Amino acid sequence: MNPTVKFNITKQLLAANGQPISGQQLADDFGLSRTAIWKHIKELEEEGFEIETVKKKGYVLKSSPDSLQAAKIDQHLATKRFGRNIHYLQSCPTTQPIAHQLAQAGEPDGSIVICEEQTAGKGRLARPWTSTQGKGIWMSVIIRPEIPPTKAPQLTLVAAVAVTRAIEDIAGVRAEIKWPNDLLINGKKCTGILTELQADIDRVHAIILGIGVNVNQQLSDFPEEIQSIATSVQMITGKTVDRAELVARILHHLEIYTDLYVKHGFEPLKLLWESYSCTLGKRIKAIMIHQEIEGVALGITNEGILQVKTDDGEIHGIYSADIEIQN
Ligand code: BTN
Repeated sequence: MNPTVKFNITKQLLAANGQPISGQQLADDFGLSRTAIWKHIKELEEEGFEIETVKKKGYVLKSSPDSLQAAKIDQHLATKRFGRNIHYLQSCPTTQPIAHQLAQAGEPDGSIVICEEQTAGKGRLARPWTSTQGKGIWMSVIIRPEIPPTKAPQLTLVAAVAVTRAIEDIAGVRAEIKWPNDLLINGKKCTGILTELQADIDRVHAIILGIGVNVNQQLSDFPEEIQSIATSVQMITGKTVDRAELVARILHHLEIYTDLYVKHGFEPLKLLWESYSCTLGKRIKAIMIHQEIEGVALGITNEGILQVKTDDGEIHGIYSADIEIQN
């Protein structure tokens, strides 16, 4: 089956909002026979779309599966570039290397790789990331900002604000940002962001923003060892979230904030970031590879560097660390 035709048929069925679409019309639109259209419809049915054939009228979409197919995301999309190229997979080990390969082959700014399940999802410092089938958002966004490589880590902060705002818009729940890359709800982690880089010494070729959002899991969907520290949006609100709509909203904010960041730097986003932060003003321990620093998190600089004041009054700039909040 031709994926572009399938995408466009699905788009038309979704946009028709329960009204019939004529098979002949679809056949004319795509320059195909009615039998070829029928074969696409059968394939959609196998994927969980409920489609009724009404005599002399055409195909009526009765319901669609809870999935992240391109057309399902596209129906909610209000962006110019982000999410306009969607690579959708049922299952893969991790979306990150796939996005890296596509980026190397020239995939444009804002393209995404997204799947229903990752069998070897990865977090920061090569930690495992649980990515249960059909329950969350597991996506890698290819971004091509014109910034020096030293500024790439700031995109993590930009993405954190975008995801927080999207969760607030769609589910009405306010997550907090734990510097640099975690979103917490009621102190438990619901989102992680992994920022990876393709660059020369002085120029970014692409940033691969890996975004994992726990959306519709129950507690039992998480492995026992992380049940006390993980949560999902549904566990907080009690309501199932339309994942495709949430993806589209994340991409909407991500495009706006990335563009703002590239034009004006982190400063215009700093206030917003701070308003969502659960780190600032708290006593924290910053755990780095060769060092630990304990003190009060004062704020972040215009470059997104966390400033920690230790008990001797000295102020330390932290570029990357695991943070434990102590009060
Ligand atoms: C972290 O909290 O350490 C970051 C987690 C990032 C998870 C996402 S899910 C999509 C992308 N693919 C991966 O394997 N990881 C990132």
